[in-house]
This record gives sequence, structure tokens and C-alpha cells, in this order.
Amino acid sequence: MLTVAVLISGTGSNLRALLEAAADPGFPARVVVVGADRQAEGFAHAEEYGTPTFMVPYAQFDSRQEWGAQLGEQLAVWRPELVVLSGLMRLLPPNLVDEWSPRILNTHPAYLPEFPGAHGVRDALAAGVAQTGASVIIVDNGVDSGPILAQERVPVLPGDDEHTLHERIKPVERRLIIDVVRRVATGELDLAHVAATATP
Ligand code: GRF
Repeated sequence: MLTVAVLISGTGSNLRALLEAAADPGFPARVVVVGADRQAEGFAHAEEYGTPTFMVPYAQFDSRQEWGAQLGEQLAVWRPELVVLSGLMRLLPPNLVDEWSPRILNTHPAYLPEFPGAHGVRDALAAGVAQTGASVIIVDNGVDSGPILAQERVPVLPGDDEHTLHERIKPVERRLIIDVVRRVATGELDLAHVAATATP
């Protein structure tokens, strides 16, 4: 049984989907803890599923480095085999990424390498593209630049705004992250191998 920590900042709808999937006894992974950089709305999902939570408030630290060190200590308490960033709206400091990569994944609401960064949905709309997408990647020290594990196209429809487009993308993100976690858990997907053979 693969143990997973999920880190969030927001509503945690993708977290909820993972919690739901992991509640199925046939699913080969379970969420052991949910962490956040703030009092995230998504903690409510963790509580509903009886999953422990921790918070490391970014605002209470003098530097990203110090915040990351505390986050790392919390993760060390729970010793997950995999960390999933699911809407964590902070860049992790390099030493924490180096410690966890390739066992740390991120979901992104665009078809990477298109539209990396915090505003992937807004940037796709601004670019006027006919389709964007969703991606799951291994986190590295760039901004959404790590090896791509899964991705799928999502159409941009006439009249879309950031909210409607994001809400069309999120169900795809959920499906992809659940499938990637399942494949990591079964050994079908070898993260170390993917990272070692990824083209820079
Ligand atoms: C997702 O689109 C995630 O990829 C992005 O923020 C969103 C999080 O949504 N970085 P939620 O908190 O899971 O509802």
C-alpha cells in the first residue's frame, strides 16, 4: 500500500477526488496526511475522511528556506512514500525538492510545457488557444518543468472565462493524478526510471 501526503492551498477538490479513490479498498494507495501553507478550505475534506492534517503557514517564516525546512520536518513525521502537490500555491525551496524528487508530483491545469506557472488557465485564455489541457509531472527545481507523467487535452469553448475553463480542466486533472498514483503504487510507473531517462 503506497502512502501519500497531499499538499494543498485551496479548495482541495482534487484532493477530495484522491481521498475518494483511496477509500476504495481495491485502490493501492492511501492518503496518510494532508498539509497546507495556510488554513486551506480543503482541510474539510481531510477531516471528513479522517485523514490527519498539518499546517505550516508561509507568512510566519522569514524565508522560503525556513518555511520549507518546517514543511520537510512535518513530512518526515509522516514518512509518505509519495508527495502530491495538489494546488499548493507556493514554490518549494530547492533542498526540499532535491530531497523528495522524483517522489513528488504536481498537477497542473495546462498542457505542459505550454502555460507553466501560477496562471496556467488565465494564460491559455489570454493566448486565445483552441485547446489547453491538464498535466501531471514530477516536481523539479524549475517552474512546472519536470518530466511529464500524464497529460490530456481540454477544449477551450467560446465564452469561457477563467472559472469555467478551470472547472472543465479539473476533472481531467483528477482522473490523471488518480491514475498516476495508482500506477506508481502498482509499480507500473517507475518514477526513478522516468526521472533518470527524462530529456532535460
Ligand atoms: C488545480 O487546478 C491545480 O492544478 C492548481 O490549482 C487547482 C487546485 O484546485 N494548481 P483544488 O484546490 O484541488 O480545487
